[in-house]
Amino acid sequence: MATHRVCPWWLGYFLASPLRRLFENPGAMLAPYVREGMTVLEPGPGMGFFTLELARRVGPSGRVIAVDIQPRMISSLKRRAARARMLERIDARLAEPDSMKLDGLGGTVDFALAYAVVHELPDIGSFFAEIAQALKPGACALLAEPAGHVNAAHFEEELKAAARAGLYPASRPTIRRSHAALLKRV
Ligand SMILES: C[S@@+](CC[C@H](N)C(=O)[O-])C[C@H]1O[C@@H](n2cnc3c(N)ncnc32)[C@H](O)[C@@H]1O
Repeated sequence: MATHRVCPWWLGYFLASPLRRLFENPGAMLAPYVREGMTVLEPGPGMGFFTLELARRVGPSGRVIAVDIQPRMISSLKRRAARARMLERIDARLAEPDSMKLDGLGGTVDFALAYAVVHELPDIGSFFAEIAQALKPGACALLAEPAGHVNAAHFEEELKAAARAGLYPASRPTIRRSHAALLKRV
């Protein structure tokens, strides 16, 4: 059953823990999609478990725009990025619950990662519309939702909302304990 409850900030420390790598391999997950020089959008990054891997992959010529509604997630993400000497490649922004405030990004994003965030949103229709507007034509977004929080029927509803915004499933990657789809902007 899906909820709109936002992940508490303190859980961000567990989600960004290196121990999580024992169960999830962000490098292997992102390798097929992210290359040097890309502009990547990550809504709901938490404290940056995937953000740092994205930043490593886009390299010094690329950029990661990480957008979260919780100031503590953003400040911890920035601290981690600074420690990893990658802060200059990461544009960490504070969003509003109903808007990621992506003005100026229209049609410039090569790839978006929405990992374990969509079930927390109050309005997924406007979320997918913002993603579609930010992506370049033909670019993709990887959507993954935790199977423990989101059942298969609800995930299909999320895919329908994405399609209404012009984001269509191009493949269904296998991600452990998750429902996942690679969505392509047509
Ligand atoms: C379960 S955490 C997942 C964090 C990260 N993606 C990961 O897998 O480690 C969900 C994150 O989405 C953020 N979030 C919730 N609603 C949001 C919204 N409307 N816009 C942007 N971020 C949001 C939360 O603050 C939290 O950091």
